[in-house]
Amino acid sequence: MIFHKAGHLKGEVTIPGDKSISHRAVMFGALAEGTTEILNFLQGADCLSTIECFRKMGVTIENTPEHILIHGKGLHGLQAPEDVLDAGNSGTTTRLISGILAAQPFETTLTGDASIQKRPMRRIMEPLSMMGAHITSINGNDCAPLHIAGAPLHGIHYHSKVASAQVKSAILLAGLYADGITKVTEPTVSRNHSEIMLRYFGASVHTEGTTATIQPEPSLFGQKVCVPGDISSAAYFIAAGLLVPGAEILIRNVGINPTRDGILKVALEMGGNITCLNVNNDGEPTADLLVKHSTLHGITIGGDIIPTLIDELPVINVLAACAEGTTIIKDAAELKVKESNRIDVMVRYLSEMGCDITGTDDGMVIHGGRALHGTTIDSHMDHRIAMSFAIASLTADGTTEITDSDVVTISYPGFYEDLQKLMQ
Ligand code: S3P
Repeated sequence: MIFHKAGHLKGEVTIPGDKSISHRAVMFGALAEGTTEILNFLQGADCLSTIECFRKMGVTIENTPEHILIHGKGLHGLQAPEDVLDAGNSGTTTRLISGILAAQPFETTLTGDASIQKRPMRRIMEPLSMMGAHITSINGNDCAPLHIAGAPLHGIHYHSKVASAQVKSAILLAGLYADGITKVTEPTVSRNHSEIMLRYFGASVHTEGTTATIQPEPSLFGQKVCVPGDISSAAYFIAAGLLVPGAEILIRNVGINPTRDGILKVALEMGGNITCLNVNNDGEPTADLLVKHSTLHGITIGGDIIPTLIDELPVINVLAACAEGTTIIKDAAELKVKESNRIDVMVRYLSEMGCDITGTDDGMVIHGGRALHGTTIDSHMDHRIAMSFAIASLTADGTTEITDSDVVTISYPGFYEDLQKLMQ
């Protein structure tokens, strides 16, 4: 797809449902007794992969334009799939489902696309094995495809080396089936959607500092889940609103859970003009965000804030490229093991667009303020790379081409249409 510099950016956009919360609503609904209704479910390819995996395990799931209905099987009602489970491009599906499969009275093979087959799974294989699971990497490289033979599980206290909600959630889900309490301690707190939603479905989950504790064998009951808009998707419009001269955008119904809102803190610290309106603190907090064009300056981003903005770092790179002065991003080595190596890919193509950016072991250093110009960008089949460069193109001279641009269907199927509407 071809992109040009934006002359105009104004209007309102309503962001599709949160990807992390949509996945969890399907999974927990499948394990609950009774029916779960999900409103504003993200119809992205990743979340549809989660639905397909649970359908293969005997769960009836109705997907209509109005809502999703999950006819739950209860904690012990899943059936052995006849086929391999395919997580597609979705790390969340792969890692969270592994925690559930580890405890089932059947064997499964879990695989995914080329990207998933390169992403590290040792991080879940280790704790789940400590709990008693039989989980092996079929190719012996600690990646999917995984063979998982369910087994009786023991409660453990796991100290994770990475702040990862996928790892934490896999362990908590396995903990639903353990013979005692299960605890996970992380180096810094990662997104807490599993803890919030498991509690909402009836589980006993306690958090203190960086430790989450779950009691086994709860009775989970189906619920109505209203999924807030995904702040990770809103991030592209926040960046566009800040960067395009004269822009003013109202972004409706965005989830602003404090374990996810690092993009807002960083954008404000860089000098961004963002106002939170209509804040609603029932359950997962939401707000409408009013974003206006701003003059930005570079800052240092590292430490505890990183897990709260990990998926937004590619588009934060774009903000930094357009800001005056230096932005240093550190403590973000996890970027290397996302859908692509997001340090390498961002450094390569922002450099090609004229930015002064250098990759480091755990982030990047960006000397911002140089004019950007268009080039051809290979999305590396990474949805967040494609959307970040679509935003960079709005400020770049000449034309920008993004190949495999339709990869945005992973998390935001209507992204280009929504962006286009603001430019008219
Ligand atoms: C997610 C957790 C994060 C994030 C991913 C979604 C989740 O991954 O990058 O897009 O839904 O739990 P990690 O757990 O690997 O940090």
